Amino acid sequence: MPPRGARNWRCGDRWRVGDVTPGSGCNLVARACGEAISACEGDDGLGGRGTRWECSLEVELIKFMGSKRSLLLNGLGDVIEEESRAGERVVDLFCGSAAVSWFAAAELGREVLACDLQQFAVVLARAVLARNRPLESLIFERGWLEEARAWRREHAAWADAAQLERRRGKDSAWHRRAQRLCQSWKEDDELLVTSRYGGHYFSPMQALSLDAMLAVLPEAPEARDVCLASAIVAASRCAAAPGHTAQPFKATETASKYLLEAWSRDAFQAATVALRRIAPLSVKRRGTTVVGDANEIAGCLRATDVAFVDPPYSAVQYSRFYHVLETVARGWCGEVRGTGRYPSREERPRSLYSQRTKSRAAISELLMRLSQRGCKVVLTFPLGECSNGVSGEWIEDTAREFFHVLRRTAKSSFSTLGGNATIRAARKEAREMILVLRA
Ligand SMILES: C[S@@+](CC[C@H](N)C(=O)[O-])C[C@H]1O[C@@H](n2cnc3c(N)ncnc32)[C@H](O)[C@@H]1O
Repeated sequence: MPPRGARNWRCGDRWRVGDVTPGSGCNLVARACGEAISACEGDDGLGGRGTRWECSLEVELIKFMGSKRSLLLNGLGDVIEEESRAGERVVDLFCGSAAVSWFAAAELGREVLACDLQQFAVVLARAVLARNRPLESLIFERGWLEEARAWRREHAAWADAAQLERRRGKDSAWHRRAQRLCQSWKEDDELLVTSRYGGHYFSPMQALSLDAMLAVLPEAPEARDVCLASAIVAASRCAAAPGHTAQPFKATETASKYLLEAWSRDAFQAATVALRRIAPLSVKRRGTTVVGDANEIAGCLRATDVAFVDPPYSAVQYSRFYHVLETVARGWCGEVRGTGRYPSREERPRSLYSQRTKSRAAISELLMRLSQRGCKVVLTFPLGECSNGVSGEWIEDTAREFFHVLRRTAKSSFSTLGGNATIRAARKEAREMILVLRA
């Protein structure tokens, strides 16, 4: 049994969730870990450094380009803890996978404001930030997911999807047949995921399962957010694509095995894993979430806020990689086109930070606004030039025009998905810069 109030516990210590005493600092971590506690025993994947946060952060719910989950363990978590005092608000201006928002709120107990251009990122953040009480995942497993299973069974599409499921990979036409079947439901408003992405990113059965989850989402806002976030995670984990949803695997000689493997993942199982990790988390002080532009939000911050700035570094829009998750979060989507099944440009959020000709001006303006508001800033960016034309060094020089700058660096790897002509590898070892900016 861990001592009451102890925080420096190790993953290898096999404490069961119920062993953690109420009021102890590791209570939340243990609950967040759930089954992950034993999974990370002996191998924390981080060279066994042993920090007090590694178990809750070990849990990777979605693969997200630029996620700071591992950097939090590698120095960033300490910096955010040191730079934000109790009572101060942490503003996660580019919240993405919500790793930093969850960390600051659930681990450090800070009030958090989370913002992103993409709605799914904000849903992920809100699923935890909006709740000051843990929820029991079993309630949703027996309620929401059971109801979704029943909805799926009763839907007219069920019999065909089930039949195709049994034939998956058995003959050369299985993939085409799956696409045709899902297309045949394109007039059915209830089958949003199936008609847009079925036969491409998802098998007909997976797509129908995701539609079922969306069809029976609970109405109460807290419950709805937890379930919707779990459906987003399920979509991300099942998608037949390499870590994002820019393009699905095709049924070619080489890629068929990846497609088959992805299509065999159980969407309900994935949603259950997500529920068990998200529902028990809660925060001391309820936070706020905004779908919007970081530069606009920056103009409304308080002098006591600590802004966390983690802008895009790629010249490719995030909405190109995450449009499927965005559709799940929004619950609507117009026509989709092309191999990537993209919605029209007007439907996809566009960031100035991912345009080579505009990214520098966007960052300059953001820093200027934050300095005018008198905020402290913690900023991360890869060193060296990135495909959006910005480098950590340039940001540091620019920041000096407005702030006193303190620099820390950490080893990290970042994704170059869709990168540039000079950087081709999917993940690249890089040194990530952490700047602390004070007025
Ligand atoms: C590098 S990622 C952030 C990763 C995040 N810190 C994490 O740990 O997952 C950049 C994020 O900025 C968002 N974004 C891009 N332009 C934005 C803008 N102008 N305002 C707010 N968010 C923006 C993208 O949608 C993406 O989620």
